[in-house]
Amino acid sequence: MCGIFGYFGHQQALPILVEGLRRLEYRGYDSTGVAVDNGNSIQTYKTVGRVADLKAVLPDEVQGTLGIAHTRWATHGGVTEVNTHPHASHNGAIHLVHNGIIENFQQLRRALASRGIECVSETDSEVLVQMMAFELEKGATPLESVQATLRRLRGTWGLCILFRDHDMMICARNGSPLIIGQGEGETFVSSDPHPLTAHTQRVVYLEDGDIAVIHPESFTITSTKGQEIEPSITVLENAWGEAELGDAPHYMYKEIYEQPDALRQCIAGRVDREMGTGRLGGMGLDHSTLVQAPHVRLLGCGTAAYAAEIGQTLIEKMGRIPAVSHISSEFRNNDTVINPKAIYLAVSQSGETADTISAIKEIKLKGGKVFGVVNVVGSTIARLCGQGVYIHSGPEQSVASTKAFTNMVAALAIFSTQLGRTRHLSKEDGRDLIHHLQQAPHLMETYFEDVGPISEAVDLLCEASSVLFLGRGLSATVAKEGALKLMELAYIPCLAYPAGEMKHGPIALLEEGSPVVIIAPNDHLKEKTLSALHEVKARGAKVILIHEKGDSIASEGDVSIAVPSIHPWLTPLLTVVPLQLMAYETALRLGRDVDRPRNLAKSVTVE
Ligand code: AGP
Repeated sequence: MCGIFGYFGHQQALPILVEGLRRLEYRGYDSTGVAVDNGNSIQTYKTVGRVADLKAVLPDEVQGTLGIAHTRWATHGGVTEVNTHPHASHNGAIHLVHNGIIENFQQLRRALASRGIECVSETDSEVLVQMMAFELEKGATPLESVQATLRRLRGTWGLCILFRDHDMMICARNGSPLIIGQGEGETFVSSDPHPLTAHTQRVVYLEDGDIAVIHPESFTITSTKGQEIEPSITVLENAWGEAELGDAPHYMYKEIYEQPDALRQCIAGRVDREMGTGRLGGMGLDHSTLVQAPHVRLLGCGTAAYAAEIGQTLIEKMGRIPAVSHISSEFRNNDTVINPKAIYLAVSQSGETADTISAIKEIKLKGGKVFGVVNVVGSTIARLCGQGVYIHSGPEQSVASTKAFTNMVAALAIFSTQLGRTRHLSKEDGRDLIHHLQQAPHLMETYFEDVGPISEAVDLLCEASSVLFLGRGLSATVAKEGALKLMELAYIPCLAYPAGEMKHGPIALLEEGSPVVIIAPNDHLKEKTLSALHEVKARGAKVILIHEKGDSIASEGDVSIAVPSIHPWLTPLLTVVPLQLMAYETALRLGRDVDRPRNLAKSVTVE
């Protein structure tokens, strides 16, 4: 999941490249670099660290209206300057940036070595540029050198390539997103639409196997076999500009507090209070399909997987048909039986997660129809599915997902209501759910008026060597999401466990003062969860309790945080918020980089 940006036009390339990198930095931020072609030579500048660090090593002025840029999340080879992109061929004739994984790169590296061509870096990407240079030296044209190289690869790539002796840029896509933006007398290339909207709304999404030859005024697209492909122009409707930080201290803080409005955007126009049902037009699901569906399978990774798990529970509660949520990377390797009549939902904020994309392709290969539950408009998953629901969170810049999670849950709750109402869910029950769902944004705002003793909870978490999260039913999944937030932000080892299962093993972890986070909304499982609370307290644990306002259970926690009451099936929308705030505040207290946690990236476009 690296970020790639390219430019060829009438402006000086460097400032455009650096700004493009800044807008792509959430995709990976281990190291970064640029290469600019001034017509005679290609100048390369790169550094370990962030785009801000790159700016520090750039000269005041670099001439050239053609260039490529890259921000890296390391897959092969350490975070070192020599492994930083762009990579150059030995003779300097070719410079390249790559996003993806070349699975057979060791074999290709050995083939180069047998010809006396040694790579200087540890990366798979450098093998490509040396192979292309080898082809070029044999007399191939730039396009032929790229085609010949790509035909020998196994894996994924998004590439931007410069040729010192040719006034052009070549791009190629296979499994890693790459989009061309057509401006006035200038052409842009980017890993995703965000940075392009600053320059143009007219874009072409390259498809797997495409190779594009880029000039300022025009570009041509061919397949690996050389057939010319007619570009399909998409106009980006919502100028998805980058969300400005404004006066918020961090994007995560901003996005946590944006959740009420984001929820409103997700729900608006998608519920029918009179009929007590959902209305997800984008899914194009007629009622007979919903009635006949034998079961539902949901896919996702990380936070999206937890939203999918909540969707699984809601679909069974409301639709009364089997539903199963799967971790995408597991699903695609488990040879799951695909029933073309079933409904498949792929859940993803970025819409670029490689594991989920692979799982979708597996389902489609076997005749299944997949619907996207996605945030980024026009993303690969959105286009691969063709139908689905955009969750309308707006740009989520912080690596830790917050407003996308609650919107995914809301979208899946709407779907479940719609499914349920074609079956056994009564109009009254449907109306009740819709009413509570529409109340959720206001209830969240009410919680924000008094978030409770978050700071006292952080006192317990900061010192912890590990933290146990417990819940039952929907709250067991919320526990997983809370654990993920604290792990990825504060780097504290966490374990989320169904509260009823904790006594069968994890209770051994507890010692005097161990912090245990327990989510216990006022649902039918609360009393059972209370038993688990007593069991951990009997071992000296300190309990951080998330409960509903006014519930007497508050007295059971060492630190008790109240959230407003809501329909028992919608409690995740509220109980997750204190967990987000706890993770955020703990990370701050520990001096972590809240928006760019170590080792992570916002969209994981490699498997
Ligand atoms: C969530 O906070 C993490 N950043 C990560 O688990 C994320 O949810 C996961 O990578 C899936 O991303 P997606 O929703 O863009 O597919």
